[in-house]
Amino acid sequence: MNKQRIFITGGSGFIGSRLIDRWLQQGHLITVLSRRPEWVAQRWSGQVAAVSAFQQLSGSFDVLVNLAGEGIADSRWTRARKAELFDSRVALTADLARWATLTGQRFKVVLSGSAIGYYGGFADDSISLNEQASAGSDFAARLCAEWEQAAAPLKELTERFLVLRTGVVLGADGGMLKRLKLPFSLGLGGVIGDGRQVLSWIGLEDYCRAVDFLLDGQISGAVNMTAPQPQSNRTFTQALSAALHRPALMPIPAFVAKAAFGEMSVLLLQGQKVMPECLTAAGFQFEQPHLHDLLSHIYHH
Ligand SMILES: NC(=O)c1ccc[n+]([C@@H]2O[C@H](COP(=O)([O-])OP(=O)(O)OC[C@H]3O[C@@H](n4cnc5c(N)ncnc54)[C@H](OP(=O)(O)O)[C@@H]3O)[C@@H](O)[C@H]2O)c1
Repeated sequence: MNKQRIFITGGSGFIGSRLIDRWLQQGHLITVLSRRPEWVAQRWSGQVAAVSAFQQLSGSFDVLVNLAGEGIADSRWTRARKAELFDSRVALTADLARWATLTGQRFKVVLSGSAIGYYGGFADDSISLNEQASAGSDFAARLCAEWEQAAAPLKELTERFLVLRTGVVLGADGGMLKRLKLPFSLGLGGVIGDGRQVLSWIGLEDYCRAVDFLLDGQISGAVNMTAPQPQSNRTFTQALSAALHRPALMPIPAFVAKAAFGEMSVLLLQGQKVMPECLTAAGFQFEQPHLHDLLSHIYHH
């Protein structure tokens, strides 16, 4: 990609930070929407512009990347928490679309966030989901569907519009692995429920490479951002305990997960077998297609 003016929401997060590190190396001009603009300015030594409200933006952008959202697994899904999860995605994206329309933005490409939760939750690996699969009906699925719909007005303002249906992103410093490292290191990890629910994962580096591939390419529409070999919770548990050289001694029965996490336990007890059909068909090459290799790379390099 030639030098681009990139506007990103969620740029301070686990995924966004790594994208920005890469884009700075590539020479792009980056602006971040953040509730903590001073932190952003400091994190990248003033090389990244930061605003806390759309009204503070001036000028136009070539690329829009929309990743902001409260952590889906950060706390129990009370009614208030569900509202925060919606507002930080759906309302924020609607505001983003309004700002872009009112200021006459004309983007080359827009990447807007979503997640594989869009497809709903499944107990095993019997159904493979490509980008044409229909939306589910549980809370996470409705959240993703509304998030995608809120971004739809942006289609009129860009040459290409993509929705990133993101799987579980694996990297050392954030996301799911950051939560699991301590319990697994203490030998307190274990299979959840019957262990047959599928984890559709992707390494952080491949995720960022795929984003750059999409920014450069010709694809439009929804894209599954997952590696080509989803794994069961049982296999994932074995792979993580092997990478950390610790036994996984503490299985979590389904009833315990339900009691501890309420409705949010679907994130643990259900999964989805998602195939990255668009990326693969477009010729994207994964550098880390194997879960064992990725985890070993993360913990031993
Ligand atoms: N990591 C994964 O495995 C995964 C999987 C599927 C989907 N996703 C989605 O991908 C996106 C990025 O994921 P991530 O892991 O990088 O998330 P993260 O580390 O939790 O970062 C979330 C970002 O969203 C912003 N944000 C959070 N709450 C907000 C609010 N109430 N209002 C405005 N902005 C808010 C934060 O910006 P400030 O704090 O600077 O305001 C932060 O930059 C998220 O939307 C997430 O749902 C992630």
